[in-house]
Amino acid sequence: MIKEIALKKMEQYFNKDKKRINHAKKVTDFALEILGAENTQNLFFLKVVTLAAVFHDIGIHEAEKKYGSSAGKYQEIEGPAIARRILEGMHIEEEVINRVCYIIGGHHTESKIDNIDFKIIWDADLLVNISEENIHLDRERVSKIILKSFKTESGKKLAKKLYLSNQ
Ligand SMILES: [Fe+2]
Repeated sequence: MIKEIALKKMEQYFNKDKKRINHAKKVTDFALEILGAENTQNLFFLKVVTLAAVFHDIGIHEAEKKYGSSAGKYQEIEGPAIARRILEGMHIEEEVINRVCYIIGGHHTESKIDNIDFKIIWDADLLVNISEENIHLDRERVSKIILKSFKTESGKKLAKKLYLSNQ
């Protein structure tokens, strides 16, 4: 239920930006798949992972407007306040909002990753970006990313299945 409402709010916010909407949806699907595969299911993580995935790039339009750039660091600056406003409107608990905003505010900064919920968002975003940026065409590069950048075992497994298996 929270997921459906969040997706609707995200789509409204991104208006007609299909590219961002589809990206967020794909990241959300992967994030929930990874969460399901990791042994960390509790309601707090389920809410945080769902909401952080849906809204992780929510600062991108504001970043483009203010700084003329969609670079990660500007998204990190702009995203949390926008997410907080939307999440407060959804009557999400303060504790969940704070955690979601922390993740959104650091989702391009590896050194800020501090727990499994953040690792899941990191891996889900990476999984989607590999195909959106056509990195999957270069299997060697994908192998390196799997070795060096993925944070969860389930994320690594998914990446191998999606991008390195021979079918
Ligand atoms: Fe993303």
